[in-house]
Amino acid sequence: MRLKLNGITIYITESYEEMSKKTASIVLAQVTIKPNSILGLATGGTPIGLYKEMVYGYKSNGVDFSQVKTFNLDEYFPIKKDNEQSYAYYMNEKLFNHINISSENIHIPNGENVNTKEECESYNEQIYSCGGIDLQVLGIGNNGHIGFNEPDVSFEARTHLVNLDQETIEANARFFESEEEVPRQAISMGIGNIMHSRKILLIASGKSKANIISKTLFGDISPNVPASILQLHNDVTVVLDQEAAEEILQREELQEYIR
Ligand code: GLP
Repeated sequence: MRLKLNGITIYITESYEEMSKKTASIVLAQVTIKPNSILGLATGGTPIGLYKEMVYGYKSNGVDFSQVKTFNLDEYFPIKKDNEQSYAYYMNEKLFNHINISSENIHIPNGENVNTKEECESYNEQIYSCGGIDLQVLGIGNNGHIGFNEPDVSFEARTHLVNLDQETIEANARFFESEEEVPRQAISMGIGNIMHSRKILLIASGKSKANIISKTLFGDISPNVPASILQLHNDVTVVLDQEAAEEILQREELQEYIR
């Protein structure tokens, strides 16, 4: 199902697999149309299927990533790049090791750089000097965070050092041996960087995201729900599976489109 509301296009798919395929078709189309695209990439559980489909696009359909540049949203701090829970490790495992992207075209905030101020400034500068992000992929935290921009965020912020919310530490503990091992900080692109992307692709899967997706797309635009600022972006595509769409499908505003 495809709905278009206030400049936001929403696709509701049957399953996680379908959500991943739909999202990949949008990313792969972007790379095919503009081979030197600048992609903004996300981590977490949600985009794993997307990355699988992108690898399939490269291996089976010859989609060429040789000129693509990527900027990841965030990285834990402090964390070593070879730590299996680092986003650098995740990206290599899930995507970069399996496609023909050049290593110099890959950008992820460096969780090993103790001079975080310098790291953040240089990350902003690199995004800027590439001409900005063409297509930014986003997942969403249960509290509405995008990247690691936690509630009460500044909508103007660029890449910065973030203190993670307890809720995020608990949610991400599933990837670590124990909650104590989850780093308490992260380096994250700010909402300012995200909002400057030419196109945004937000993905969400599962019941646990149904409420925050509804607040993001139909609630007040508020720093308490960082993703709600996306309502003001002029080119947002949202791809949901059935469960993540559960609450928006109940909304009055959508009934005329659904019937
Ligand atoms: C992490 C990442 C976010 C991601 C979120 C949701 O905290 N920093 O970029 O969107 O988790 O993760 P998941 O897709 O696992 O629900």
